[in-house]
Amino acid sequence: MKKILITRKLLKESEEKASKIFDVKFNSNDELYSQSKLIESSEGYDAILTSLTDKMDKETINKLPDSIKVISNFAVGFGNIDLESAKKRRIAVTNTPEVLSDATAEIGILLILGACRRVPEGIQSAKESNWKWSADYLIGKQLTGARLGILGMGRIGQKIAKIAKALGMVIHYHNRSKLGEEKEQGAIYHDNLKSLFSVSDVLSICCPATKETENLINKETLEYFPTGAVITNVARGDIVDDEALIDALNRRKIYAAGLDVYKGEPNLNIGYLKIKSVFVLPHLGSATKYTRTAMANLAIDNIDEFFKTGNCRNKVN
Ligand code: DGY
Repeated sequence: MKKILITRKLLKESEEKASKIFDVKFNSNDELYSQSKLIESSEGYDAILTSLTDKMDKETINKLPDSIKVISNFAVGFGNIDLESAKKRRIAVTNTPEVLSDATAEIGILLILGACRRVPEGIQSAKESNWKWSADYLIGKQLTGARLGILGMGRIGQKIAKIAKALGMVIHYHNRSKLGEEKEQGAIYHDNLKSLFSVSDVLSICCPATKETENLINKETLEYFPTGAVITNVARGDIVDDEALIDALNRRKIYAAGLDVYKGEPNLNIGYLKIKSVFVLPHLGSATKYTRTAMANLAIDNIDEFFKTGNCRNKVN
């Protein structure tokens, strides 16, 4: 039986599944392992099932024991893992695509609604009983007829586009390549950022975090947007230069932001918390029982597939 280390607590059903296939070391207290604890704990193990909270940087990967052949990430994003270093050490890295697209797109839509319709201010006033109805009370931005720019038209972006279209939004997108008609579903392709941003009343960031997308929303690119645009991010915090976005919000160049992901999670830039029009969530993208179970099961199956066949269809390096 292969020996696997699971760095964070999974839902019960998934831990039971893992125990049936592997000899597993669980983290029953769900403590966040330091790099040294992670390295030490993986001694004598064949694979590690990591979460996005594990920083598998070059130094950590280079210190892993030779016995480790697979790092199976319990996420579709793998910005927490240095793929090149893993490749050099002949460690396969896998992820969990598709199974979380629906749940994450739901949160993507929630961010758009929350930011456009002034939900944070509304919740606070309702809880404080500090409101009275009037014709101009908490007037927000209507989605019907507004242009939604989607940055990264993968599975999550496409699902957000589908729901937003049903809400009456007009969909524009930028992606590395133009999609076929069936996937596009009438969305308008832009081959560069400036062109997309300049027609985005609302932006939904859905692209992966890579060296190329780091701080892609910055002082310069924020100026491409129409004044009063709304920016939402369901992908990764690294894509946004926080200081630039906070400044644009304070200047009212950007009307509101809806954020589920941050640089340096679980912390978030305190500047966001001082702005009434910022709708923040604590990385809830895939947080449903159905999806978290499907993700964990896929992360377990990825390891199993690798050891049975020497490869895995969800290998990313
Ligand atoms: C992912 O899988 O990348 C999601 O952000 C997890 O919630």
